Amino acid sequence: MSKMNRTSLAALGILLAGVTSAELPENDGYVHMGVATCAASQCHGSAVPREGSNVLQNEYVTWTQDDPHSLAYEVLSNSRSKGIAARLGLGSAITAKICLDCHADNVPLQQRGERFHLSDGVGCESCHGGAENWLATHYNQPTVTHAANLEAGLYPTESVSKRGDLCLSCHLGTKDKFATHRIMAAGHPRLAFELDTFTELWRTFGRQPHYRIDADYRERKGSVSHSYSWAAGLLAESRHRLSLIDGPLFDGEGMFPELGLYDCHACHRSMKTVQWRPLPRHGGAGPGVPFVHDGTLVMSMALARALSPSDGEAMESGLVALHRAGSDNIDAIREAAAILDVVLARLQGQLSPRNPSGHEMRLLREILGTGAEGNYIDYISAEQAFMAVQMLVIEIDDPRLEDQLDRIADTLNNDERYRPAQFAAMLATLSEPEPEPDTELEIEDEPIE
Ligand code: HEC
Ligand code: HEC
Ligand code: HEC
Ligand code: HEC
Repeated sequence: MSKMNRTSLAALGILLAGVTSAELPENDGYVHMGVATCAASQCHGSAVPREGSNVLQNEYVTWTQDDPHSLAYEVLSNSRSKGIAARLGLGSAITAKICLDCHADNVPLQQRGERFHLSDGVGCESCHGGAENWLATHYNQPTVTHAANLEAGLYPTESVSKRGDLCLSCHLGTKDKFATHRIMAAGHPRLAFELDTFTELWRTFGRQPHYRIDADYRERKGSVSHSYSWAAGLLAESRHRLSLIDGPLFDGEGMFPELGLYDCHACHRSMKTVQWRPLPRHGGAGPGVPFVHDGTLVMSMALARALSPSDGEAMESGLVALHRAGSDNIDAIREAAAILDVVLARLQGQLSPRNPSGHEMRLLREILGTGAEGNYIDYISAEQAFMAVQMLVIEIDDPRLEDQLDRIADTLNNDERYRPAQFAAMLATLSEPEPEPDTELEIEDEPIE
């Protein structure tokens, strides 16, 4: 088969993998054999990358030394976890199902192989799926194809949308496992995620990445731009959030829907300043109305605007309806969420590995422009905007812009001291090729006398 053909087959494989109904590893029903079964030195436990092999073969060493996921179980016995467990009356965090579901490969007992250890934390099979049916054969290339491995239960991590579902199952949560407001209030860190940024962060934590996207990788699996993986992750996260609003979690316990689905800083921020100002997307909701977490929806709106004006408008009116419904009742919020989800699904349909690639500059202008106007008044939108801007600036490869990134990151160091005006000013400078020295800004955080 010619190289050209193999490449296009690989690209096709990605698209097809995107439409299979692969179950997440935690629900795949296969026996999870344990990290030890991957770790032999001739398999993935080589001390250094192997020459002449498609894959690095030192993945186990990278994972133990440089991947925070290998410590995910261990953190459940640190003092922070002890405090969380004590405050929630859970006994110990290392035996609590709700903690183990995200901090380990917590499959049912009958699906744990002889060499499986819960203490391995988030291990190979938490992401690559239970190896019961492919462990012994998956490396017999070319007799055993990647498609055959997928068929035998290997999770399609190379598909951006499937990878998004996977990471989000722990980094956002699902209806069955969620780091609730009660867990947050007991001391758990707030979760924030963006697929492309977190993938790069995770891949490059240590001395070397866990996998290398080189010529043979591209040939076998294809590769996509950062802007595509950002966009796909963003739409996936937006839709996951809306589905959580539609699900039982949002019924909440007692008076309130699950507050973990709201914008944390709508309630938690200093009372010494007034940040509120009317934002177009809030549709006239006055000060003092808490709103659902919309940082990813706001970025999806930016994406929609860059792709097509009519989708941009549909996103904006959908967001306005969602926030208006916020002062109404839960059913109204759910109805608005369902309408917004239709727009997001349509956007997903328009994405392809070639789109939004090539429109990075337009996207960047859109996000910077919206930001300079002060629309990222809430910390969570600002955080999402920053991750997007960083990805785009790196993708566009403009050193002048890259030099500014650290200064912008500094304005986001402390969510409780976040100054929207300062952040907007930074984005304004970035959007102007030649910044004016003393730009007057309209947006100010007003101190309370
Ligand atoms: C929905 C998944 C989810 C659940 C449920 C969950 N966690 Fe986490 N936890 C995470 C993720 C993801 C991170 C990493 C957050 C980050 O840094 O972005 C994390 C981080 C932490 C940290 C900070 C780790 C560090 O290195 O400082 C602690 C401590 C922690 N979790 C303890 C717990 C405990 C105890 C429970 C059970 C009460 C729990 N978690 C339940 C997903 C979850
Ligand atoms: C947090 C999730 C996660 C964990 C944990 C994880 N991987 Fe991966 N792995 C991925 C993703 C995502 C990719 C890149 C996408 C792809 O090519 O499938 C990848 C890529 C790989 C590749 C390269 C595939 C190729 O075609 O070049 C190998 C081999 C691999 N992982 C083995 C392992 C082993 C062995 C472990 C445990 C020691 C492990 N992984 C742990 C998510 C994970
Ligand atoms: C089974 C649950 C689970 C899955 C799946 C998962 N993670 Fe994680 N992730 C965690 C937990 C728990 C932590 C915190 C571990 C710690 O503190 O040691 C974490 C930590 C991280 C961190 C470090 C965050 C920080 O603040 O330093 C990154 C980056 C990350 N994950 C990226 C990813 C990516 C990318 C994927 C998908 C390819 C993924 N994760 C899939 C549970 C998961
Ligand atoms: C609708 C308002 C509201 C939203 C939204 C909200 N919280 Fe809270 N939060 C509260 C209230 C009320 C308390 C309880 C304060 C008390 O115990 O006195 C609280 C308590 C907390 C505490 C413990 C503070 C303490 O001093 O005990 C933390 C931490 C926390 N929330 C984090 C978060 C995070 C993270 C989010 C977003 C995922 C969030 N909150 C969203 C209202 C909110």
